[in-house]
Amino acid sequence: MTAEAACEVVCVVGARPNFMKIAPIMAAFRDQPIAAKLVHTGQHYDPAMSDSFFEQLGIPRPDVNLEVGSASHAVQTAEIMRAFEPVLDAERPRAVLVVGDVNSTIACALVAAKKGVKVIHVEAGLRSFDRAMPEEINRVLTDQISDLLFTTERAALDNLKREGVAPERVHFVGNVMIDTLRGHLDRAVPAATTLGGKPARGYAVVTLHRPSNVDNPEVFRALLETLGQVARQVDVVFPIHPRTRATAERFGLSALLAQPGIRLLPPQGYLEMLGLTRDATVVLTDSGGLQEETTALGVPCVTLRENTERPITLSEGTNTLTGPEPDKILQCFADILATGGKRGRIPEYWDGRAAARIAEFLRSWLDADKQRN
Ligand code: UD1
Repeated sequence: MTAEAACEVVCVVGARPNFMKIAPIMAAFRDQPIAAKLVHTGQHYDPAMSDSFFEQLGIPRPDVNLEVGSASHAVQTAEIMRAFEPVLDAERPRAVLVVGDVNSTIACALVAAKKGVKVIHVEAGLRSFDRAMPEEINRVLTDQISDLLFTTERAALDNLKREGVAPERVHFVGNVMIDTLRGHLDRAVPAATTLGGKPARGYAVVTLHRPSNVDNPEVFRALLETLGQVARQVDVVFPIHPRTRATAERFGLSALLAQPGIRLLPPQGYLEMLGLTRDATVVLTDSGGLQEETTALGVPCVTLRENTERPITLSEGTNTLTGPEPDKILQCFADILATGGKRGRIPEYWDGRAAARIAEFLRSWLDADKQRN
């Protein structure tokens, strides 16, 4: 093997929602085989936000950890770029593969594109059409500089065409995060174990961390008061993101986290969260991933946002958008308690084989690329 062939693809992860996406891709690369190395930017670094996912999902230890940690968007993105460039110089891969829409995604894609290294984006083409979301900026820009774009739902291709991305670069392969869900469902930790017994009256899983919900004290307060109302009818199980806890303290809202019926948990491992979600009466969230996971599991989901970049969870899945208004949330919650919520069906290609499709396609793409150069 030549030195250049030692690493064909550098894969990048940085933040919690990346880990369940990269796990099946690394496994499929081993099967193909595709020679890959894994770079962790260190955007998320707490053991509960990072290490536990590597252990539970069997992700190989990162070959490199850039250890950038937390900072403003500009500083975090810049630090990742600065630290990633020498890795590319040393590895000289044919391509860099990024997943999702976090700051690590755009930072590493940009470094690669400027160095003439091909960029592969997994979960391309999703759009909330809300540029106030930091992730939307990351999505649009990453897709513009990607050479190969793998999508999770068909609407993504329309979004990309509208932005001038050549359709021949875009490949509909399905959802790698759902590969992970399917592959681990039988090992999910039952909610009764995590909660020390399943609440007899049922429970709602809540997650909240989007700046639009937790960075404005009025919005955040109203949301927490609404959770207090929900907790009158079912237990509220709330694995709280570190930034949400810190913001609640800063705004003097900590007492609302201690309302009767609300059970705060630290960030959960993948298998614990999967079990909590599977066994829940309802999920209330502003997460992107949970909207898809609830659709795959057939669990009703109330999305506390005005928009979603994952419209198939609305049209085919179990998801309903309410935004952050208390009345809308409580109405939707009441409907779900009364009717059991939307039935939903499993979207096309959310079948546990998305990563295998990616690896198969990439193997021939890399071989063709080798012949061209
Ligand atoms: C990031 C992603 C978001 C994703 C979320 C999942 C961007 C723009 N945002 O948001 O899309 O949904 O991850 O969690 O990339 N912190 C810790 N420990 C950690 C990591 C973070 O305590 O291991 C705290 C720090 O106070 C940090 C804050 O969380 O400042 C925000 O972390 P950051 O990675 O900047 O963004 P997230 O809000 O986690």
